[in-house]
Amino acid sequence: MSQTPFVPGPQYDGWLTGVEQIGYGGDYNPEQWPEEVWAEDVRLMNEAGVNLVSLGIFSWALLEPREGEFDFAWLDRVIGLLHDGGVRVLLATPTAAPPAWLYAAHPDARVVDRTGTPMGPGGRGLMAPTAPAYREAALRITTELAERYGKHPAVVGWHVHNEYGTPVALDYSVHAQRAFREWLRERYGSLDSLNAAWGTAFWGQHYADWEHVQVPAATTTPANPAQQLDFARFSDAALRACFVAERDAVREHSTAPVTTNFMAASCPATDLFAWGKEVDIVSNDHYLQAADPRGYVGLALAADLTRSVAGGKPWLLLEHSTSAVNWQPRNVAKRPGELARNSFSHLGRGADAIMFFQWRASRSGAEKFHSAMLPHAGTGSRVWREVTELGANLGRLTELAGSRVHADVALLWDYESFWAQDLEFRPSQGARHRERVDTYYDRLWRDGHTVDLARPSQDLSGYKLVVAPASYLLTADDAANLTAYVEAGGTLLVSYFSGIVDQHDAVHPGGLMAPLRDALGVRVEEFLPLREDDSITVSYRAGAASAGSASMDSTALTGTVWADDLVLDGAEPVGTYTDGPKPGGAAITRHRHGAGTGWYVSTSLDVETLATVMADVYAGAGLAPSDTVAGLEVVHRTGDGGTYTVAINHTDGPARLPLGSPATDLLTGDAVTDDVDVPAGAVRVLRTTTR
Ligand code: GLA
Repeated sequence: MSQTPFVPGPQYDGWLTGVEQIGYGGDYNPEQWPEEVWAEDVRLMNEAGVNLVSLGIFSWALLEPREGEFDFAWLDRVIGLLHDGGVRVLLATPTAAPPAWLYAAHPDARVVDRTGTPMGPGGRGLMAPTAPAYREAALRITTELAERYGKHPAVVGWHVHNEYGTPVALDYSVHAQRAFREWLRERYGSLDSLNAAWGTAFWGQHYADWEHVQVPAATTTPANPAQQLDFARFSDAALRACFVAERDAVREHSTAPVTTNFMAASCPATDLFAWGKEVDIVSNDHYLQAADPRGYVGLALAADLTRSVAGGKPWLLLEHSTSAVNWQPRNVAKRPGELARNSFSHLGRGADAIMFFQWRASRSGAEKFHSAMLPHAGTGSRVWREVTELGANLGRLTELAGSRVHADVALLWDYESFWAQDLEFRPSQGARHRERVDTYYDRLWRDGHTVDLARPSQDLSGYKLVVAPASYLLTADDAANLTAYVEAGGTLLVSYFSGIVDQHDAVHPGGLMAPLRDALGVRVEEFLPLREDDSITVSYRAGAASAGSASMDSTALTGTVWADDLVLDGAEPVGTYTDGPKPGGAAITRHRHGAGTGWYVSTSLDVETLATVMADVYAGAGLAPSDTVAGLEVVHRTGDGGTYTVAINHTDGPARLPLGSPATDLLTGDAVTDDVDVPAGAVRVLRTTTR
């Protein structure tokens, strides 16, 4: 197939000029190949429908071989070839791969781990984000690139750095030590307020001199949790400051949008809701967990989180894999069609570019067994055929660009709460924030509900249901926001170990879960976590949400990990423990508050068991049950041209998709009526309504 011409399409503010169709391509690392390969690369990119590449991500050592000595000739030639071939460029700042000379000149600028061991060179990743030598050198190469290519017609955007927060996010170097103290002085103003916030009366940790305040390096016991939480905040802010400095250096010379590739859902160290405000376009990288046969659910969560971080605007999928991922324990190859299914799930959830790591498989280095668009097997391969087919199909979907996804359900995702819950000495090692988030998300996925990930502080009024699977740290203000949401008519479901501590990891005055008492009508008198292999039985009144009209039979549900000693304070128990540490005690409660309802689930139900409870929660929230078969993923995007339905069949059999109205299959051009079949493993994209 020849390169799709650049058709002027629906323009939207801040997008990549010249990429009005769905972006398609990958990381391009031409410096790994002799120059004669480059022309073939561009020819094959055209054949595959590639219109966008990320370039120069790890090229610092070649662009600046010695400090202050630059060589841009090769990059000029590559960008020229791409431009002539109609391939647009996201030009990288190469600051995720500092050159060996920088390490040699400034050994103090190396990242230091918690035990005091300095890192690198010889791998990749940034140096100490607060080290002046690293910051100065990073800005110098960024400025040189921006000056030289800021107005180049092929350079339509900037790809700053690479995956901030990986491979390491926490640095314990002398520079971090100094910067952490400055950050704390700024935040607390006085040692008195620092001592109060950190609760240093406990274990005699009171500070009388700022010089004695340390990064939480290795200690004989767990370090002060409030100190560790602040260090997580500081470390995230230090990385973000690196990004902002490079972004601003680029903006001096270029009006093209600036982005950086996030790892939504797999890099917990960066508070992406804060980062999302700093980038011009949100971008994400996602690698399917090959060990998980249902990894596509985790993919959907990552895509929904990315869209939520973008405030609903279209985003770029900058990296995923065509097949094997070399850093996973077993490099399980994608099955035929999986590359397309994964790509269309991202697209359906708001991605306007589908890109890969990487264009051409590397012969050398640590990632030579990673799949690529152009694999070691060359163009005679299955992967190449699927890559060209995907390029052709995305070329048929230009009208989706800029369209939006709507969600009725929000699932709370708060980095500070996750950082706090993951610290030591929590009531149960079995209570893991991510496990609960994944389980509730999986339930919602299976039930066909599109989900936004939301912060507890944001306006939630547009959602019919808000699920809080792991809100351990919940400030009084955020709890008030959730309570107001319920008062105004919303349905809130809270899982155990939520609303426990404030922003300093201190238990709320008034007791466990005190700030959610009004919304949930229940108090936690004591946590009753279970032994590792123990389970607990809940007698649940099925149909609880529509009591009176539905069956009032009891169902026995099995919980694990956790229970609470609950005191009812207005709530109705819809599930009661029949065994375990408190037989007869309330397990699942429902509370009418204002015009809305607050549910509390005090134990860990697995994804199948949750179905019973969630059916009632949906009914109470006015959410219609899904009418599609299990394993058929259906998402919708709405734009000026109509509503688009992306249907992905993850099963081995055909699936019927009820449409209820005539539609157009955008991949085949065929008109379809009412219901359509989605063959096993296949994808369909339908324009279901037209304005
Ligand atoms: C990350 C990086 C890429 C590459 C891929 C391999 O996402 O950004 O440079 O290492 O992983 O999966």
